[in-house]
Amino acid sequence: MTAPPAVPTEEDVRGAMRGVIDPELGDNLVDLGMVRGIEIGGPGKDPGAVTVTIALTIAGCPLRSQLQDDTKARVGSLPGVTSVDVQMGEMSGEEKRKVMERARWKARENALGTDIPPTARIAAIASGKGGVGKSSVTANLAAALARRGFTVGVLDADVAGFSIPRMLGLRGRKVEAKARHDDASRPHLYPVERQIGSGMVKVVSMGAIPGAEEDEAVMFRGLMLNRAVQHFLEDVRWGDLDYLLIDMPPGTSDVQMGLARMLPRAEMIVVTTPAQAAQKVATRAADMARRGHLRIVGVIENMAGFVCGHGESYPLFGEGGGGRLAKQVGVPLLGSVPLDAAVALGGDSGEPAALRDTGPAAEAFAAIADKLVAEAMPPVEMAGCTARMLEMVENS
Ligand SMILES: Nc1ncnc2c1ncn2[C@@H]1O[C@H](COP(=O)(O)OP(=O)(O)O)[C@@H](O)[C@H]1O
Ligand SMILES: [Mg+2]
Repeated sequence: MTAPPAVPTEEDVRGAMRGVIDPELGDNLVDLGMVRGIEIGGPGKDPGAVTVTIALTIAGCPLRSQLQDDTKARVGSLPGVTSVDVQMGEMSGEEKRKVMERARWKARENALGTDIPPTARIAAIASGKGGVGKSSVTANLAAALARRGFTVGVLDADVAGFSIPRMLGLRGRKVEAKARHDDASRPHLYPVERQIGSGMVKVVSMGAIPGAEEDEAVMFRGLMLNRAVQHFLEDVRWGDLDYLLIDMPPGTSDVQMGLARMLPRAEMIVVTTPAQAAQKVATRAADMARRGHLRIVGVIENMAGFVCGHGESYPLFGEGGGGRLAKQVGVPLLGSVPLDAAVALGGDSGEPAALRDTGPAAEAFAAIADKLVAEAMPPVEMAGCTARMLEMVENS
């Protein structure tokens, strides 16, 4: 975040568009051939003004605004982009036939390489360094979203320092591994589940791998650490998911770049403490997301002012770092979670603070979850446009 950003290239825009998924066709708009044109700058225009033309399967498809918003958010977060104009057209009969062929081929080849449903919204919870509360934020957001009726997957990508099972009360539970015929060395894994209200959390973690702690995991040996995350992404059978939260390992490691490569549609939530030093590191994580073309949803400030019984707030770990980082990166501050013993207690007991009805942290997590659902990361809609298009193609 130092030199002024250069003018975006078509390649950059295409990279960002790979994160925009047509949930019904289950693939990104670039690979589906739905991106008809990309214009950058041009006569009389700002050099950072981008126009993207998208060909829809059905002109009036209700998914239109979802695709448009997603395109604006992702392309707009590229360095150097000053405005994004999204033009919508409709595919020709020939294009529709092609896109169906492509979608069918993909379904057959399972080329996405993951079982994460195309309708799931994926957020990697990251920060530059450990100890800022990434895992606590992940566990509490998962609980808060489940409490609102959503099915929330949690992928604990902190393979060496896993803490999600304990924080969500699933310590000691193990994923179910089922051998598969095509590759005996890599079984399918079924997450550990917990019902919360009318919703559900589904957890995959190194801590839930049979024998992993005892170092008896014959079938997982050699897949440890970096490969383990890839294994989780490729071989976990998630079933239904509205959200998938990924608890990232500390630091800007290759796991982050790997995630960007394997799951370009993932988005990122950056956690920071109010202190300047943590914020500097978080800036680096944000920088990383941009280079990998992951959209940053926003910043969550954690360990903000300690609220005493009288409602007065004491900024033990500094002040304003979350807001400063959000402003610097140009994304919203999703919320600020105060220091609250309920977070630490909940992390140990497995009953996250977010499941309480009152308390400073419970209220902060509730507000953040509401914000995610209402505006920052609304659940993906399906509109049945593909089915209608299919009918049209097949009857023509
Ligand atoms: N808002 C908070 N209030 C009080 N304690 C917190 C809060 N957030 C995190 N903690 C505690 O701080 C420690 C580190 O949090 P953790 O979520 O494990 O961080 P990270 O995953 O970033 O390493 C844990 O003991 C946790 O209980
Ligand atoms: Mg952690």
